[in-house]
Amino acid sequence: MAEPILEVTGLVKHYPLTRGVLLRRQVGAVKAVDGVDFTLGRGETLGLVGESGCGKSTVARLLCHLERPTAGTIRFRGEDVTGLSGRALKAVRRAVQMVFQDPYTSLNPRMTVGDIVGEPYEIHPEAAPRGDRRRRVRELLDVVGLDPEYAGRYPHQFSGGQRQRIGIARALALRPEVVVADEPVSALDVSVQAQVVNLLVRLQAEFGLSYVFIAHDLSVVRHISDRVGVMYLGRIVESGPAGAIYDHPTHPYTQALLSAVPVPDPAARDRRERIILTGDVPSPAAVPSGCRFRTRCWKARERCAREVPALAVPAVFRDAAGPAAHPSACHFAEERRPVPSENSGDSGDSGDSGGDGNGPG
Ligand SMILES: Nc1ncnc2c1ncn2[C@@H]1O[C@H](COP(=O)(O)OP(=O)(O)O)[C@@H](O)[C@H]1O
Ligand code: SF4
Ligand SMILES: [Mg+2]
Repeated sequence: MAEPILEVTGLVKHYPLTRGVLLRRQVGAVKAVDGVDFTLGRGETLGLVGESGCGKSTVARLLCHLERPTAGTIRFRGEDVTGLSGRALKAVRRAVQMVFQDPYTSLNPRMTVGDIVGEPYEIHPEAAPRGDRRRRVRELLDVVGLDPEYAGRYPHQFSGGQRQRIGIARALALRPEVVVADEPVSALDVSVQAQVVNLLVRLQAEFGLSYVFIAHDLSVVRHISDRVGVMYLGRIVESGPAGAIYDHPTHPYTQALLSAVPVPDPAARDRRERIILTGDVPSPAAVPSGCRFRTRCWKARERCAREVPALAVPAVFRDAAGPAAHPSACHFAEERRPVPSENSGDSGDSGDSGGDGNGPG
């Protein structure tokens, strides 16, 4: 693996649940993130996937130091940056930037695009001399495939895909090393999603960026991820190289998620088995004992309620060095591939010309 740029160990974020107006008593906690470990190599993309509410955005905010963790450590370039404050915190925040999910609400409608993209320089004036900012903003717009002449326009004059390009330009303004993209294409039309993903791939190569790419859909991250972590109720339940997760999943939850991924090839679609999960995701304020997936798992046995499965290579696969030998938090891990192997995973849009359909209105 490449030299680690981010190392996350035992990351926890609990939000207190309180009762009472005057005397607020803590009566519990929402365990939004409940023990997450991963390493991101320099220049790599880690895909983080899981259903809504499993803690993805909370992980993103913790990585970008927008919130402090309840426990655990975040190391950046080998240095523990968890408890930093003041100038040192500001420096790390500059190096780890976020792209937000919804390009319709994350851009201030009353600011021009030029001011939005250049705003990070107001917060970090040391990043660019005042006289140089206009030129830099125009260059950033050009880099993400937008006409620099649009700097004076407002967000509502752009399509969804173009707005996400504006959000990406803004994230690049401070020349970050890591970009945390929190569902960057989930709010976009399917036809535009591939263009934005391709833009991110190109920018990664051009600027040597490392990505944490978050999605609720496994099909979106496959194209871009070197490694994938599958999250359930605040934890990663399976992780490994993207190919191992897609073609050799061993955790029942990953297998269920994969069985719901759209399959473009009709023949493969017919052979696919759908795994329908029963029951709802439990509340993160009442996490089941033992394996947190057990209330929805068709394989659950008595041991699953008693013992928390560790995220480690399961014993049955440890000796065989094949692709199934990757970490999986299940006592009864076994290979099961709901979708037959097919080679049409890439959506094939390489014409990254910046045209997301409509030009600005
Ligand atoms: N500030 C907060 N206070 C209380 N609960 C929160 C807060 N932020 C998130 N949560 C809860 O934490 C859980 C994980 O949320 P989130 O990280 O947004 O998940 P995801 O991005 O995967 O949908 C959810 O149950 C959510 O309601
Ligand atoms: S540990 Fe048990 S409940 Fe959890 S995923 Fe494995 S079989 Fe299912
Ligand atoms: Mg989210």
